[in-house]
Amino acid sequence: MNGEVTIAGPRPLRGSLRLPGDKGISHRALLVAALASGPNTIRNLADGDDVRRTRVAIEQLGVRMKESRSDDAGGVLIVQGTGVDGLREPDAVIDCGNSGTTMRTLSGLLAGRPFLSVLTGDASLSSRPMGRVARPLRELGARVDGRADGELAPLVIRGGNLTGRRCELDVATAQVKTAVVLAGLQADGTTEVVEPAPSRDHTERMLAALGAPVTRVDDRTTRIKRGAPEPFELEVPGDPSSAALFAVAASITPGSSIVIEDLCLNPRRLGFVDVLARMGARVAVEQTEERLGEPVGRLVVEGSLLHGTAIAPDEGMIDEIPVLAVAAAFADGVTEIGGIAELRVKESDRINTIQQELTQMGVAVEAHRDSLTIRGGQPRPALFKSHGDHRIALAAAVAANAMVGESTVRGWHSVAVSYPGFAEDLAELAAEESS
Ligand code: S3P
Repeated sequence: MNGEVTIAGPRPLRGSLRLPGDKGISHRALLVAALASGPNTIRNLADGDDVRRTRVAIEQLGVRMKESRSDDAGGVLIVQGTGVDGLREPDAVIDCGNSGTTMRTLSGLLAGRPFLSVLTGDASLSSRPMGRVARPLRELGARVDGRADGELAPLVIRGGNLTGRRCELDVATAQVKTAVVLAGLQADGTTEVVEPAPSRDHTERMLAALGAPVTRVDDRTTRIKRGAPEPFELEVPGDPSSAALFAVAASITPGSSIVIEDLCLNPRRLGFVDVLARMGARVAVEQTEERLGEPVGRLVVEGSLLHGTAIAPDEGMIDEIPVLAVAAAFADGVTEIGGIAELRVKESDRINTIQQELTQMGVAVEAHRDSLTIRGGQPRPALFKSHGDHRIALAAAVAANAMVGESTVRGWHSVAVSYPGFAEDLAELAAEESS
């Protein structure tokens, strides 16, 4: 993977594409397969380093996997689920790399196992908050330790003997909710996890579709009893956060017209579609099927003139904010993005890094404690930095694609964690002839 990428725009996007599998569903498919007793078949697993970390971690717990790359639909992975009792103590430290989802969700699985696990990560992950997952897992009876009293990785978990109870989370986070659900499946009695606001719900959908005792009480509360999922076959639908990159790229680059097929259309992941529509984008979604509880279908986008909008905290977006900030930079007028304090504890402090990189393009941005105000204008080509954050690098490439002239994104290798083939996929749509 190159350390930097240079894009000469504007390059209108045309044609149709399928995206790599959703990252969140891919992590969950691996974790859930480990809990099932029997062979599971997973196609179109996300190919980035984050999901590879979860995969290797589960192999360290003794789960065997076999991959074949010959299939038309991309790779096929067979995961020989052992059932939870078949998992064994890892004989080495589990390295979660840059992946918060790996560290937090896996902690929930391990909290129920009567052995010792040590989870570590890179410098960015080691500075991100882990107390939010340590606390509820301790409440269920696991021993979870780490630097700063479990606030920071490495985490040391000695699990087992969990007792279900009601866990109220301080922040809405699907990673921690998932951890509690995976622990709850291994606990005596009933566990409930309550969030201050709804987060993405892939775990609940997948487990319920596979017959595990996970039910929704309301949109913020999930109830779990001891139990296990059935083995499954799944073709992971395309990642909506990746679709947001192309949706913004097509919207802000005149002459674009694209179709994204086989996309996960989970409503908690599609806030960006509503926001773009409000900004004047020509976007449409169409559901074609349901797959393990997830709606799946296509997204159609055409280039158009955008105007500013207000994005509220309850619109359920998180990973799409950097690229929506790019849309705002190209829109007429002001865009306010509120209630995004969580962005400060992602792979970079994204309120800060979004401000820095939009400023490089000559766009006026005000950063506040938990919000951004962006005055759209006439962005100009720039030398961008990724700040080691894949979503910042990807959003910068989307901006570069739309501007007249050449822009460069430094630190491009950070995209390896979620979407290593993005530059190639973008170039392919940019090369399609108009029909
Ligand atoms: C994820 C949840 C989100 C998101 C992350 C993946 C998941 O984080 O930012 O990239 O797969 O559960 P939260 O824990 O803040 O919801």
